[in-house]
Amino acid sequence: MKFFVDSADIKEIRDLAETGLVDGVTTNPSLVAKSGRKFLDVVKEICQVVPGPVSAEVTATDFPTMLKEGQKLAGLAPNIAVKVPLTWDGLKTCRALSSADAKVNVTLCFSAPQALLAAKAGATFISPFVGRHDDIGQDGMALIADIVAIYRNYPALTTEVLVASVRHPIHVVQAAKLGAHVCTLPPNVLRQLANHPLTDKGLDAFLADWKKTGQSIL
Ligand code: G3P
Repeated sequence: MKFFVDSADIKEIRDLAETGLVDGVTTNPSLVAKSGRKFLDVVKEICQVVPGPVSAEVTATDFPTMLKEGQKLAGLAPNIAVKVPLTWDGLKTCRALSSADAKVNVTLCFSAPQALLAAKAGATFISPFVGRHDDIGQDGMALIADIVAIYRNYPALTTEVLVASVRHPIHVVQAAKLGAHVCTLPPNVLRQLANHPLTDKGLDAFLADWKKTGQSIL
């Protein structure tokens, strides 16, 4: 499974990228606003820090302007994935950009029919929002199961399922069990993946016993 960082915080992205375990980044207008940075500047900087796909979202809602914005964003760096919302204008933009070999991440997906349309439009990634389903008492992971199952019926479809709106490590485990290609994770969730109290307790015990030997490796 590929792990993307879901953030526009360049410090967090740099810190996590140093682990060598970050395969890409996703941003959205809310995350960019939170960063307090100029959109094009922070996206270009992220593209230099992380070689994998970096999603940057258009903000227009009409096809002609979305296409112009998408073409500009795609031109910022070779690893840009243009993010478009799952609307008819977004799907038309996805079709046009993907036909020109640009990477496209179709976002704000909340249903399997939407995901099927995005794949037909040539999306590189589809971003179903799991957490926002859970937030209203629906089963967000059931949506991932449906999309993965549907896509598997059509080997010609190359769209990767990019699980978004991830709230905790269990979402990651469930998504991996279903065979989703990517999880995009807030920095805190990505860091949580490595944490376990028994690991900490076991390491403390190992080191305490090692100290008693009076030895050193170096
Ligand atoms: O990439 C989409 C993601 O940022 C949405 O997450 O927590 O706002 O539902 P959230």
